[in-house]
Amino acid sequence: MCGIIGINSNKPVSSTIINSLKKLEYRGYDSAGIATLYDGLIDEVKSEGRVNNLEKNSLVQSMKGTIGIGHVRWATHGLPNSINAHPHSSQYVSVVHNGIIENSTLLKKFLISKGHNFKSQTDTEVIVHLITENLKTENIVNSIKKTLKSLQGSFALGIVFKDQPDLIVGARRGSPLAVGYGPNENYLGSDSYALKSMTNKITYLNDGEFCIIKKDHVEFFDEDGVKVNKKVLELSSEEKSYDKGDYKHFMAKEIEEQPTTLKNGIKEYIDNSNNDINIYNFPWKTNEINAITLIGCGTAYHSCLMAKYWFEELTSLDVSIDIASEFRYRKNRFKKNSLYVFVSQSGETADTYAALDLCNQNNMKTCSIVNVIESSIARDSKFVLPIHCGTEIGVASTKAFLGQMLILYIFALKIGLLRKDIIKEKFTEKIKDLKTLPKLVEQTLLTDNKIQTISTTFNEAKGSMFLGRGFSYPIALEGALKLKELSYIHAEGYPAGEMKHGPLALIEEGMPVVILAPRDSYYKKTISNMQEVIARGAKVLLITNKSKDEVISENIWEKVEVESTNDDLLPFLLTIPLQKLAYYSALKKGYDIDKPRNLAKSVTVE
Ligand code: M6R
Repeated sequence: MCGIIGINSNKPVSSTIINSLKKLEYRGYDSAGIATLYDGLIDEVKSEGRVNNLEKNSLVQSMKGTIGIGHVRWATHGLPNSINAHPHSSQYVSVVHNGIIENSTLLKKFLISKGHNFKSQTDTEVIVHLITENLKTENIVNSIKKTLKSLQGSFALGIVFKDQPDLIVGARRGSPLAVGYGPNENYLGSDSYALKSMTNKITYLNDGEFCIIKKDHVEFFDEDGVKVNKKVLELSSEEKSYDKGDYKHFMAKEIEEQPTTLKNGIKEYIDNSNNDINIYNFPWKTNEINAITLIGCGTAYHSCLMAKYWFEELTSLDVSIDIASEFRYRKNRFKKNSLYVFVSQSGETADTYAALDLCNQNNMKTCSIVNVIESSIARDSKFVLPIHCGTEIGVASTKAFLGQMLILYIFALKIGLLRKDIIKEKFTEKIKDLKTLPKLVEQTLLTDNKIQTISTTFNEAKGSMFLGRGFSYPIALEGALKLKELSYIHAEGYPAGEMKHGPLALIEEGMPVVILAPRDSYYKKTISNMQEVIARGAKVLLITNKSKDEVISENIWEKVEVESTNDDLLPFLLTIPLQKLAYYSALKKGYDIDKPRNLAKSVTVE
């Protein structure tokens, strides 16, 4: 989704802004732009498509400004073309914006009545003209304060002013924004990943705050324009150089990294010598909690659904799950003894953040399971369980999904033990099994060649279905989502037992159907459902686990076997061939695997 970079320096900034914008590319975008200040003038260059197009523009190469802002845009209001790309500028001010201004139509009417002319179809341009209007009567701080108060919706902003050669303004409400500190220069960024290549000293703005960034210092203000003191955080530099290595795509690398990332997660939480789980400083007693609500979006929601099965199996808690964009607008019955868990790779997903915020406002117990520990969701949750799977760049979430499931499983086991819902012997047995998971994932990754061949059939089909029961149902949903988002093939995930209630009508001769039927307690039922789709002409790809007992069915098109382990852990292994299926299918189609069309890695608008 949109990304912001701002640099105030003594040296020309255009090439550093371009390089930082490249770091933001993974978020998903459709146009890019840059504005620098030189000799009392704002130079602005914008282009449709990739940052490369912008970089090639000779005007960018000749920019001499030592202060500037850059942006990658994911279109919300107006087509993804160079006119609508950011920055948007008047004669006096230039603005980059992440988020959506909900009252832009009304504001635009008012500004047109005051004589302002609009060039683009964007909501952002109203901010430019509002600041310009307010500057007629106010100083910088007051004009910003006044402008921000007129805006409804969400924003992170970077602003430069024609007659202010040593000043960038940053402001946030709803969308994340950070300030970075360098030697004789300071930075603004919507994402610490982009800032990390320049500095590891960072301050995050809170909602409603704005800041003035000069070369040698930064001042912060609350929404009323009152100065506030903020902490400077030191980020770990370990991930500074995360790149594709020898892989063609980040996604391929991230799939193969899963044995290592699971090992890291296990190392962080499992006490090897005692076969116990370490969760330090959990702020509530487990007997104060009798219900749990798990909330997320997309893949993170699928890990919540998975966790529902585990929590119900291993604890006596009441378990509910919710899609964040639904939860945030419903009339929720907040319960004192409920724990609200927010699952997110990026920790910046707007809907998940809003759901968390709502729970915090209602004084609920909030906990997050995130990958980016500096993120807004992590910072604003009362307790955080990090995933520890490292930077994930591919828009399609892979290692973070397994990481989220790992932590949710560990959390369910620990709560089950503390509440005495499971006995110590069973707990110890499950921990021992869990420790073997990275090796099993490594072995399952070897199913590669077969999946490559199979993917051709999916590419040729009009659509496909992914079916599973019990623990395999969330994985069926995840498999279908991966195929949709990467290869743009219609794919539906369904509980296998639901087929007769409607979706069976979709099955026709030759339609590829993935059946997830590991040999768990649902196995026989799922195999019966498989026969029903085979009988109607489906080409079935059966994904099961290795066993000495053959599957009794004659008409299976293809079979892929994952390693065997206890029922709880099979979902991790079933996920692997589905990730690969989506990857190879998109690869054969020649699609942009790490940046699928229309999608963004960090979904910071609702
Ligand atoms: O960063 P988050 O985990 O909060 O993101 C949630 C979803 O946007 C994300 O999982 C999305 O569904 C992925 N592209 C799926 O691969």
